[in-house]
Amino acid sequence: MAEDKTPRVAWGFTGSGHFLPECLALVERLPAVDLFLSRAAAEVLQVYGYPVRDLQARFRVFRDSAASAPPVGLFYEGRYDLVVVAPATSNSVAKMVCGISDTLVTNIYAQAGKCRIPSLVFACDASPELVTEAPGGPVPVYPRPIDLRNTEALAGLAYTEVVLGPDALARALSPRLLPPARCDAAPSQAGS
Ligand SMILES: Cc1cc2nc3c(=O)[nH]c(=O)nc-3n(C[C@H](O)[C@H](O)[C@H](O)COP(=O)(O)O)c2cc1C
Repeated sequence: MAEDKTPRVAWGFTGSGHFLPECLALVERLPAVDLFLSRAAAEVLQVYGYPVRDLQARFRVFRDSAASAPPVGLFYEGRYDLVVVAPATSNSVAKMVCGISDTLVTNIYAQAGKCRIPSLVFACDASPELVTEAPGGPVPVYPRPIDLRNTEALAGLAYTEVVLGPDALARALSPRLLPPARCDAAPSQAGS
């Protein structure tokens, strides 16, 4: 069967649990999406009860297992027309701001920019005080000034839109989202 050439969303997960279930719920509503995990993301997904093998049963999942990030070649083949990084850790945001691309997720962000493909980033460090859902329950977090400066700086970069919460993320993705009720009817995406 011919390969589906419809542009897809490349969704990068970093090692953050901030609104992780909400982000996964949006992934479920995208008709054409592949997942890219940082090494920390694979660990944190497991901690929050989303083992990578379960995601692999339903999505094409790229893990951070090679130094040169071979999957980024797909960006040069026109496979993706949007990168989403959600949720984005302080670490990944700092790297993206500095032009560092030494993880799979920071690499897809960098390569997308070099291909003039837009990126949508949900930065965890949205305000000086926030509450996040840790595995054991809600905890307060106080992002440092440098974290907040990085979030602001990222928003000023080319081909980059930064959102600061799951509702804004859903609004930014709304033209692509299937209605929640239709999710079960979506075609299988594994192995595409
Ligand atoms: C359970 C768990 C939850 C975490 N949540 C966050 C988070 O919300 N924000 C953050 O910046 N780092 C968080 N971290 C720390 C990151 O995973 C760590 O900084 C990691 O090096 C990030 O790597 P990455 O940016 O390549 O994914 C969390 C770690 C654990 C173990």
